[in-house]
Amino acid sequence: MKKTFYITTPIYYPSANLHIGHALTTVMADAMTRYKKMQGYDTYFLTGSDEHGLKIERTAKTEGEEPKAYVDRIVAGFKELWQRLLISNDDFIRTTEERHQKVVQEIFRKIYEKGDIYLSTYEGWYCTPCEAFFTERQVGEGKLCPDCGRPVELVKEESYFFKMSEYAQPLLEHIEAHPDFIQPVSRRNEMINFIKSGLEDLCISRTTFTWGIPVPLNAKHIIYVWFDALTNYISALGYGTEHDELYQKYWPADVHLVGKDIVRFHTVIWPTILMAADLPLPKQIFGHGWLLLDSGKMSKSKGNVVDPHVLIDKYGVDAIRYFLLREIPLGMDGYYSEENLIQRINTDLANDFGNLVSRTVAMVEKYCEGKTPSPEVEGAFDQELSALAAAVPSEAAGFYDKMDFANALGSIWHLVHRANKYIDETMPWVLAKDPAQAGRLGTVLYNLLEVIRIVTVMITPAMPALPEKVWLQIGVDGTSAQTWAATEWGKTEVGQVVKKGPALFPRIEVKELPNK
Ligand code: MSP
Repeated sequence: MKKTFYITTPIYYPSANLHIGHALTTVMADAMTRYKKMQGYDTYFLTGSDEHGLKIERTAKTEGEEPKAYVDRIVAGFKELWQRLLISNDDFIRTTEERHQKVVQEIFRKIYEKGDIYLSTYEGWYCTPCEAFFTERQVGEGKLCPDCGRPVELVKEESYFFKMSEYAQPLLEHIEAHPDFIQPVSRRNEMINFIKSGLEDLCISRTTFTWGIPVPLNAKHIIYVWFDALTNYISALGYGTEHDELYQKYWPADVHLVGKDIVRFHTVIWPTILMAADLPLPKQIFGHGWLLLDSGKMSKSKGNVVDPHVLIDKYGVDAIRYFLLREIPLGMDGYYSEENLIQRINTDLANDFGNLVSRTVAMVEKYCEGKTPSPEVEGAFDQELSALAAAVPSEAAGFYDKMDFANALGSIWHLVHRANKYIDETMPWVLAKDPAQAGRLGTVLYNLLEVIRIVTVMITPAMPALPEKVWLQIGVDGTSAQTWAATEWGKTEVGQVVKKGPALFPRIEVKELPNK
């Protein structure tokens, strides 16, 4: 039986259109899914939208729309963006769907019947943009949200509580026994300290608005939006229904990929809910860093969001995906600026990779009648090039496995650089002048085509639209290049038609930069 791999992104709030920072999480999850598929896994990739709660209710009102009409409109835009970014999700769950609501109520009921949910009164502070409860001590004198810095609201109302405090010890034990449960390590340590400082029971219902899932048996209460949202990871798999095949096959998830701002919800609230419901915990929560602008984190209220549609129109989907994956070091923040993006496009994509392909293809057309030559005569530098081409796939795979895309691509680019250097060292244009060197020339060009093939296989998870264009130019049958095993040296077939096409990544003239 094939090994399975289940990966999720957070489900996004339709409180505004998505910006390029949101795209980072989803592009990472997509690249990971594509990579695992190439490694032979049976993958399942879930994303969706988190549509309930006070924040959405208020946003809809300011837009002059009913909540449902509002979320329908915004969520249609999410789906369109994911298509344009070539996101290969298997499902898109909306928390307003009946299949989801039923499961949330079922989990609530299960935990209530077990005695871990009780009715009391909540008195404390609430941050609506973060949809999070805070204590007097956490909001301080200024009454500001400790997470986003915005003013919090005082709440006093009858609420259901989840006995989260009782799960602090089992949760700590789980985290300690499973070193990979929270990644990267810095986030793990942060969470261990947070839990050790003590967990309180969690307020899990509100009565002062209506846009949400009612508590079973007490419909004047609406289930807390995070309790509702987190459950998407199993409701989408049909948990608790007659058709729970996906749940049986894929749960527990291999990784919940989330931004660092919501690691706490995923490593404290979600696992304790699952423990209370007697369900297995996900294998890993991976908290990635943020994409920042020089002026700080992108947010609608700051008015500094970058629209992914505009960037895709201008630079193409592969370049945007490459930038997002290359620019953010594992678990850390990275910076977006149009200058950085253009620099990556011009240097890595146009100069390094694009030129490698166009020079090689042009030489095969000119010197070998446009057919893949046969490698006849070994010579200087071949060994070094092929040894690197043999080593990089396992090095890059090691990085991909850790979701360290920046280093995976960095390692692949070592090979691209080495191949460009090999052209300078072997000087095929000089060999071409001497008929006695025809065999050697064939070998050099074969080796270059082979490196291009191997590199293209390895960058497929990051740039899924690219391979087809490269295969057309270097005469490779794409169906033979869809697995990681295809990175093995020597698979390029002799005699294939090689044909120059348009530049894969045209250079961006810097004068096109806005306001420069
Ligand atoms: N609805 C919740 C998640 C519920 S999951 C059960 C939520 N939604 S969100 O739309 O605000 O954020 C979705 C994801 O986008 C989060 O992982 C968040 O960290 C990520 N990002 C939002 N802005 C970002 C950047 N500027 N950079 C990187 N990631 C960013 O939270």
